[in-house]
Amino acid sequence: MSHMMQVVGVATQQFVYVASRDRKFNINEILLVEDPVYGDLKGEVIETQSFNRYIPLATERNSLLEPRVLDGLRQVGFRIEDEEINIAKVRLLEELTAPVKTGANVRVPEFYEIEKLLVSRPPEEGLVLGVIRGTAEVASGMPEKLKGIAPLYDREHGMLPQDGVPFILDHWAMADYPHIGIFGGSGSGKSFGMRVILEELMRHEVPTIVFDPHFEMDFAEPLEGIDPSFREDFSGRYVIVTAGKDAGVAFEELNSNQLAGLLRASGGVLTEAMENAIYALHRQGDTYVTFYNKVYDLIEAMEKERALEEAFRSQEIDPREKERVGALLELKQEFASKVGNVAPLKGIAWRLDRIGREKVFNYGIDRVVDAIKQQKLVVIRGSSLWVLQIFASYLVKKMYDQRREFRDAQQRGEHKEFFPPFVVATDEAHNFAPKNQEAPAKSVFREVAQEGRKYGVFLILASQRPALLDDTITAQLNTKIVFRTTRSYDIATMKEETDMTEDETARLPYLPSGVAFVSSAMVGRTVPVRIRASKTQSPHRENPFAELRKKAEDRDARFFRAVKDMLPIVTTRMDLVEIEKRLGRPVTEDEARDTLSRLARLGKLREEKILLGYRYSLPGRDA
Ligand SMILES: Nc1ncnc2c1ncn2[C@@H]1O[C@H](COP(=O)(O)OP(=O)(O)OP(=O)(O)O)[C@@H](O)[C@H]1O
Ligand SMILES: [Mg+2]
Repeated sequence: MSHMMQVVGVATQQFVYVASRDRKFNINEILLVEDPVYGDLKGEVIETQSFNRYIPLATERNSLLEPRVLDGLRQVGFRIEDEEINIAKVRLLEELTAPVKTGANVRVPEFYEIEKLLVSRPPEEGLVLGVIRGTAEVASGMPEKLKGIAPLYDREHGMLPQDGVPFILDHWAMADYPHIGIFGGSGSGKSFGMRVILEELMRHEVPTIVFDPHFEMDFAEPLEGIDPSFREDFSGRYVIVTAGKDAGVAFEELNSNQLAGLLRASGGVLTEAMENAIYALHRQGDTYVTFYNKVYDLIEAMEKERALEEAFRSQEIDPREKERVGALLELKQEFASKVGNVAPLKGIAWRLDRIGREKVFNYGIDRVVDAIKQQKLVVIRGSSLWVLQIFASYLVKKMYDQRREFRDAQQRGEHKEFFPPFVVATDEAHNFAPKNQEAPAKSVFREVAQEGRKYGVFLILASQRPALLDDTITAQLNTKIVFRTTRSYDIATMKEETDMTEDETARLPYLPSGVAFVSSAMVGRTVPVRIRASKTQSPHRENPFAELRKKAEDRDARFFRAVKDMLPIVTTRMDLVEIEKRLGRPVTEDEARDTLSRLARLGKLREEKILLGYRYSLPGRDA
């Protein structure tokens, strides 16, 4: 019998050792143990090793080689001194009441036997995210519709064929097991994976808001080297909106609490005095301008109190000025004692200025809401992370409330305009909702994490630092996609927050980019997945050094075009003014000289040494 595999040892009820003479085991593959008592038992290979004449088993030291495994091997008939032996540690996927039998036969399953374990939703109804590792062999027996839907990618070789059973995340099950976390160190594949998820959400027309702190979420550019048959055009299915440009916070709708949060986000901590001043001065309905004027007027009134009083009593004051001064004094009368002194007001004023410059308050969120109602994906950018956070806190709260009001009204049998369920996704999630720290968007992210399921609002949060993400939120992420992680602190968090085994967490530091463990309450098992090729790519993938070179080349080419008609140029008598005029920017003598000599080195100009300088002309021409 070829490919004979047998149980050669039993570690615990959950783990067995399997050996074979001629078949190498693959990590993560599923095998069937044909136990005489239990019948066919599914198990996953979690550790493998091969021994032969050169690496004889008898002299090796290895966790796979406990004495009972050696005994088991002998018992089953292996000659451990000189035979080739492949050994695997296998975790059984079902709970047993007694251990399986040593000697039991083990075989590779047919696809249909483990289909339920591997594919929980058909591809047309779920998110096709990648390939389940260790399934290459069983994949040959799977139906056509599962083939060729998750090709892989490698920066060196481009696209590669799908080499196993597709991993299909059942997003419908989020109704019971909401929210997804994407974790992993720098370069581990989070953004790539997020892109694949977002492409899938667009395919299913799931309304989605994506905060894009790194300006990398655009879907216009096809993946480099993509197979034409895999290409997909996402135009019309997403929009990009920039906070402060075509969306913003409606200041009039803020309550004092939210305003304090925004001002805090714009410039670090607010002192207690500043906070008190905000609560004293702000009235809901204030516009940015009315509130801003209130703050500045009060500063003026408090600083110039005496002069204002004198002016008010003076006979010469003109009536309009008198009215203004009177108003200032009234303002002082009303608020000065509540505010104390001008220092906190100045702190507020500075922050208001800073926010005002970003134009965060100039626009509403109509564009976002319209796109969400059309079931599109909305990429949201901001001029900086804090602007994005401010906008996120406002936008998510507002949309969440609308969705909730719609659902609650529906439940009460009242009519209210439809507001769809939606997904909120963001990278750098630990900045939006940090552990043990305030941040503008934290409370609404928490609210959605805890209650969003009821209303069909789901989070997809990516972070390099799971240990820094608010733990209330982390605990609510029912599906965690964990890429390569090397910091022990973050590994510890993943150990606590997932059902990954010791073996799996031990492998986390060594995962190649794009490979992750998906630990999900939906599946009840950790699935090792290689994320598929994305169909699109981030717009700025240019190598930074290539970028520098291109910049220099552009600069030189522009210079060359500008001075071409001025040749020959003699460095001791350069017409810098003319060069500046032609280039439309200031040029120093040094820059001109350096550029000319570089162009000569590149063969674009001919350089001759003359007394005290150089003469440049077009090559191959005598002038
Ligand atoms: N699924 C994948 N298939 C092929 N290549 C991948 C995959 N995932 C990641 N890569 C490669 O690894 C690189 C880094 O991945 P990515 O940008 O997603 O990292 P990241 O986890 O977002 O890192 P950072 O935290 O620094 O943003 C990608 O540019 C790509 O070349
Ligand atoms: Mg990234």
